[in-house]
Amino acid sequence: MRTYVQVKEELAASPKTWLITGVAGFIGSNLLETLLACDQRVKGLDNFSTGHQHNLDQVKKIVTQEQWAMFSLTKGDIRDEDTCRDACRDAEYVLHQAALGSVPRSLENPQLTNANNLTGYLNMLVAARDQKVKKFVYAASSSTYGDHPGLPKKEDLIGKPLSPYAVTKYVNELYADVFSRCYGVKPVGLRYFNIFGRRQDPNGAYAAVIPKWFAGLMAKEEIFINGDGTTSRDFCYIDNCVQANIMAATATREESFNQVYNIAFGERTTLTELFDHIQERVKGLVDNYIEVKPAYRDFRPGDVKHSLADISKAREFIDYNPEFSVVQGLDRAADWYFHNLTLAK
Ligand SMILES: NC(=O)c1ccc[n+]([C@@H]2O[C@H](COP(=O)([O-])OP(=O)(O)OC[C@H]3O[C@@H](n4cnc5c(N)ncnc54)[C@H](O)[C@@H]3O)[C@@H](O)[C@H]2O)c1
Repeated sequence: MRTYVQVKEELAASPKTWLITGVAGFIGSNLLETLLACDQRVKGLDNFSTGHQHNLDQVKKIVTQEQWAMFSLTKGDIRDEDTCRDACRDAEYVLHQAALGSVPRSLENPQLTNANNLTGYLNMLVAARDQKVKKFVYAASSSTYGDHPGLPKKEDLIGKPLSPYAVTKYVNELYADVFSRCYGVKPVGLRYFNIFGRRQDPNGAYAAVIPKWFAGLMAKEEIFINGDGTTSRDFCYIDNCVQANIMAATATREESFNQVYNIAFGERTTLTELFDHIQERVKGLVDNYIEVKPAYRDFRPGDVKHSLADISKAREFIDYNPEFSVVQGLDRAADWYFHNLTLAK
């Protein structure tokens, strides 16, 4: 079994060329940070629709000048075929993150989500095929489980998608499978379960719950919980997700290709528990903080009620071994939001 430490050492000893799409976003910029820290050559592609220059500026401050010089950025859109082809040229590994996230956004504008998440994705697969990249690792989603009631979620048992966003992520998987069978592309889908941590955007109508609540509580704003608070999620700290991408890209066992894997921590937290965890941390950081109670409102359409992952397949096939529990991740995220909230605006 490979360990993450070993794999990073091997990469540092023999640097590779990576393409990260969505590099200015939350997950993309964290992948960039780790790969540059391992002395890799990284190409990045982003149209800055939801990503930010300040995410890249922060990575630049963290890595050395020599490491930063190994990064090249293209401002471009995956909806454009030529852009995808140029981006994939000379890339050995592709970590495809660019997409429009958010279930509510997809319910408001399904065509826009479809164009970015499906047409753009297909362009990237074609480019990866034509440029003969070694491995195409892509961001899939736990939303693919849809209305299947089973818990914990196992990769083979999925239900019907509950939103246009979920449709796009599921069809990504279908295309990956077809491209593997018909053209020999080596795709690996990572079904992310509520990833959180530094650089996740707390602003805007479609912000994810953890950054939104950190920012809201630090600004002493009212916090809303959709539903009765018993809705649960398998929240997963960003460093676990970065590990999964690197382990998936570098896995050499034939059986590990053309698969999808749950990427989570493997623990369930309700929204009320999450609120308490976050408030506890904000209380420890903000002077004269006065505790508040959340306001409960209607359950949001398109959302799955409960989510918990079985991560044994990723453990077995790509040697994924998440290092950070939810509370360890929340400690780190709290610290980051406390010091960086103005930056994130
Ligand atoms: N964060 C999570 O919990 C989570 C869960 C499941 C799946 N995902 C998936 O992970 C990926 C990354 O998500 P994130 O949380 O980092 O979101 P993000 O919005 O922070 O990052 C997405 C990045 O992609 C870029 N982008 C979007 N459309 C593009 C296009 N047409 N061309 C070029 N760039 C484009 C954006 O500008 C942004 O920088 C997405 O595919 C998302 O669907 C995320």
